[in-house]
Amino acid sequence: MSETDRHSAATSPEQLTADVLASFDGCTDDRLRELMQALVRHLHGFVREVTLSPDEWTRTIQTLTRTGDITDAHRQEFVLWSDSLGVSMLVDAIENPLPAGATESTVLGPFYVPGSPLRDFGATIAQEGDAGVPALVHGRVLDTAGAPITGAELDVWQNGADRLYAVQRPEAPEDHLRGRFLTREDGTYAFVAVRPVPYPIPDDGPVGDMLQRTGRHPWRPAHIHMIVRADGYRALTTHVFDRASEYLDSDAVFAVKPSLTRVFITHGPDDPDTPDGITAEWVSVRNDLILARAAGG
Ligand code: BEZ
Ligand code: FE
Repeated sequence: MSETDRHSAATSPEQLTADVLASFDGCTDDRLRELMQALVRHLHGFVREVTLSPDEWTRTIQTLTRTGDITDAHRQEFVLWSDSLGVSMLVDAIENPLPAGATESTVLGPFYVPGSPLRDFGATIAQEGDAGVPALVHGRVLDTAGAPITGAELDVWQNGADRLYAVQRPEAPEDHLRGRFLTREDGTYAFVAVRPVPYPIPDDGPVGDMLQRTGRHPWRPAHIHMIVRADGYRALTTHVFDRASEYLDSDAVFAVKPSLTRVFITHGPDDPDTPDGITAEWVSVRNDLILARAAGG
């Protein structure tokens, strides 16, 4: 192309993308260069694929602005986008390919609070009497060869029958429905929880608008959260799901893995195995947890 032609020809979208990509060629951080160039390639590809209009791009930026505005120390709307678009689960799946037999991981979610009290074997995590149907959660923590892991820590938290986590209720006792438990010599653990119920993810912000406008719902199936930690093993962030729950097939954050569902068994108060302090119908769930060895562990 002659110098005159070059100055009179329109710049093509392809040339623009090439120029932006080339602007990162001098980045000396290889990984950052790879990330930025892939981001530009995919973002430009997206704009081209859907022929994004200026009005749609303006509204996208307004949505991102509202996402920042609603985010504070207690509400993380960016993570909610990541969760509701399946990105949190995808990043975890890529980072955590597990050895055969190890318990699968799933999302942490926004309601984890570090520093839960250490409680005795079999103790309850409910600090309010009307938190829900008592649920004995028990099992063993094992390695992938089936050997018990002594002194493993289970850090557990859940919502109550009112659908809420204690952190969502300023009036709730601080340590309500959460606690840490250690496994005994034989790898066993037990605690009394309440039967979890399905609940909606926070849906009064931009993510909720997206769910509503796209015909999706905000519900998560009933589950109890756990982080399991033991020296020499990879920490495991997971859930136990109630196999009888609604929404197992349409979790708003794509965090259900069939291997994490369990049957909750109903018992009468006259059952000889009824834990101390329970005087009405209760449920139990057995949930063994299999940990993968840490790299070099
Ligand atoms: C949760 O299970 O606590 C949760 C996970 C992702 C988004 C919202 C809530
Ligand atoms: Fe949850």
